[in-house]
Amino acid sequence: MTALLNDTLLRALRREPTTHTPIWLMRQAGRYLPEYNVVRQRAGSFMKLCQTPELATEVTLQPLERFRLDAAILFSDILTIPDAMGLGLEFADGEGPRFSRPLRDETDVARLTVPDMAKLRYVFDAVSSIKRALVGRLPLLGFAGSPFTLACYMIEGAGSADFSRVRRMLYARPDLLHRILDVNTESVAEYLSQQIAHGADAVMLFDTWGGLLAHEAYEQFSASCMRSVVERVRAMHASVPVIVFTKGGGQWLERIADIGCDAVGIDWTTDIGAARRRIGARVAIQGNLDPIALLSTPKVIESQARAILAAAGNEPGHVFNLGHGIVPSTPVENVEALVECVHQATGRPDFDARATYREMAENRAPRGSSRS
Ligand code: CP3
Repeated sequence: MTALLNDTLLRALRREPTTHTPIWLMRQAGRYLPEYNVVRQRAGSFMKLCQTPELATEVTLQPLERFRLDAAILFSDILTIPDAMGLGLEFADGEGPRFSRPLRDETDVARLTVPDMAKLRYVFDAVSSIKRALVGRLPLLGFAGSPFTLACYMIEGAGSADFSRVRRMLYARPDLLHRILDVNTESVAEYLSQQIAHGADAVMLFDTWGGLLAHEAYEQFSASCMRSVVERVRAMHASVPVIVFTKGGGQWLERIADIGCDAVGIDWTTDIGAARRRIGARVAIQGNLDPIALLSTPKVIESQARAILAAAGNEPGHVFNLGHGIVPSTPVENVEALVECVHQATGRPDFDARATYREMAENRAPRGSSRS
């Protein structure tokens, strides 16, 4: 594997000392960026954007041209897998995702199978294309939804405040939910392995809805599936770091750290210092600024970011991030203020990332490209 010019994120995920605290942001490419909305318009729909590798590459690079971020994240969605399973994904304008053929009865569940990965080729092509465009500057993160979080959308058929249909199935027909989770676990493991084979340097599991589960159910219906995904991915790609993020999982940090991942993502409701004391040095921690804090002012953002850095302590193994994704109404200059603050407070990286990313985007030979 070729060495990266800025591998700070990968070092932090391995809990090695770094020159500064690396930062990337969930949903760093998205609607808060005017240039994203232009490309999204050009694509015609969100799924078309995901399915066109050149456009997915373009929007992946957009935030890197503006901010000194320490990682790129594949532009895609967690719902590509259930779409490839034939559930019929639609994103109506201004609404969330919707499936035209959700899993409603025993027959639907019996019919469910691991999708042919050829149907997800557009995702792997996007990974290869982004990797080429990055020309070794920064690590590329791949991702997938957790088996449970995917099941939430597959059963409910859309987003929901409480996913009560899923939780009803958990109590009434746990056998059906287990069958769905088994198929999802195998699908997610295969999907992440393919992303890694095409160039992803680290991968993240988004368990956005695991926090809705009862204490014991979390172990049985989400954590155990993620453990199995991590084991399968590791068997094929032993050295690629895996991040596990259960939103609302603050009370289960020890269990999450025991999944076998390299890093635990935490949302904004958990104190990062207390999290570190609970899980010790065995995994890195990623987080955890409240994304709504980005709607305030640079001054407030700076003080909130410094408080998180202080609580995290000056030890290896912290990846700065938000506690969940950037919201569309976020002012761009506030994101800039956050990234600059984290770098300045923790030691500035030794090259101006943005100038080199701009060159990358224009496909010119990067400076210092002789490094390999
Ligand atoms: O972080 C990044 O920059 C990478 C891109 C990314 C997207 N979705 C792009 C996106 C990632 C990592 C995701 C993951 C994802 N998708 C999750 C897990 C993380 C989370 O946010 O909890 C979930 C639950 C989904 C499913 C999904 N996709 C929903 C619920 C929505 C609608 C909500 C919304 O923000 O509108 C999407 C659409 C989506 N995924 C958008 C983007 C940029 C907005 C669509 C648009 O441009 O019209």
